[in-house]
Amino acid sequence: MHEDTKLALIGFGNVGQALARLLISKKEELARRYEIIYRVVGIATGRHGAAINPDGIALETALHMIEAGGDLSALSLIPPSTDMTSFLHACHADVLFENTPVNYATGQPAIEHMRTALEIGMHAITANKGPVVHAYHLLSELALSKGRAFLFESTVMDGAPIFSLWREALLGARLSSFRGILNSTTNLILTLMEDGISFEDAVIRAQEMGIAETDPSGDVDGWDAAIKVAALVTVLMDVPFSLQEVERQGIGNISEAMVLRELELGNRWKLICEARREGDRIIASVHPQVVDAQDPLFTVMGTSSAITFQSDVLGALTIREEDPGPHTTAYGLLADFIHAVG
Ligand SMILES: NC(=O)c1ccc[n+]([C@@H]2O[C@H](COP(=O)([O-])OP(=O)(O)OC[C@H]3O[C@@H](n4cnc5c(N)ncnc54)[C@H](OP(=O)(O)O)[C@@H]3O)[C@@H](O)[C@H]2O)c1
Repeated sequence: MHEDTKLALIGFGNVGQALARLLISKKEELARRYEIIYRVVGIATGRHGAAINPDGIALETALHMIEAGGDLSALSLIPPSTDMTSFLHACHADVLFENTPVNYATGQPAIEHMRTALEIGMHAITANKGPVVHAYHLLSELALSKGRAFLFESTVMDGAPIFSLWREALLGARLSSFRGILNSTTNLILTLMEDGISFEDAVIRAQEMGIAETDPSGDVDGWDAAIKVAALVTVLMDVPFSLQEVERQGIGNISEAMVLRELELGNRWKLICEARREGDRIIASVHPQVVDAQDPLFTVMGTSSAITFQSDVLGALTIREEDPGPHTTAYGLLADFIHAVG
């Protein structure tokens, strides 16, 4: 049996809390199947305090406190720091789970959290796309030099295996192109508009369902989809690719009338993510497209997503996930965790 693995969490929102619930429900299974015994020694948030306890923080208690709008500092055995570098040094953890909001422009402060964790010998696992697009090579090389893992399965298509599929199963395959639906919020909005709801009302409905954020521009303007495209190109095509290099158009100009007209013709509007190699170049885009019933993306509805990879050896290979959410994102983090320490 391994020694206790000590975990630190930066970010305890939708994803951090879902991870905590999954760690609780999988505790016995992790010990039995993988001989992993874990202890959460630190949790840090933005506005809800931080806690450090080398003996282990009771996750159920932390969840109750956060759900009640409380401050985690009450659970701390030592005075917690709001500075994340000091927090990470004080935790003495083996693994960092970084789940703070994405910063499309710079990837910070998540990159700094991941870099610090790797520097001090922790595995660094994240659902945050910023570090992948803005610092993939830096963090990968640092992880290699430290003999630690930098893993980010949940950054694209939540817990569906995308990066591990290419890393572990599709050995020797060369990715020539991909095409998919990668943003849940816009796909849900377009699905709702098929019921004759206006774009504005569909956004409100998606917000009420807890899918769209208060400021939905990251999704509806195509930023979230574009950063996922940049992450896939950077990692799977091994070509450093910035967000600005993805030609981007959101769904703001798609009216209810346009959606209903295509529906009558047996077609659907979808926000399509694409990238392909052209010689040494990569051409990548996110834009609304009309797809017909023969298209594999035609039946991807609501918050579901899908991607078709074209490789030199397998032709088309499609991965599709139904109704993802923070719980499936949490699974991707858990799978990365088992991969890192199991
Ligand atoms: N939601 C999903 O299903 C999903 C799916 C795939 C990927 N992701 C990615 O996962 C990450 C987390 O998403 P989420 O939905 O959990 O976000 P969220 O609910 O907004 O939670 C973010 C957490 O990070 C904390 N935080 C913010 N700034 C911080 C800082 N500077 N230092 C330390 N903690 C900070 C927040 O604390 P306070 O609330 O106290 O300020 C909160 O606990 C994002 O990068 C997102 O893109 C999410």
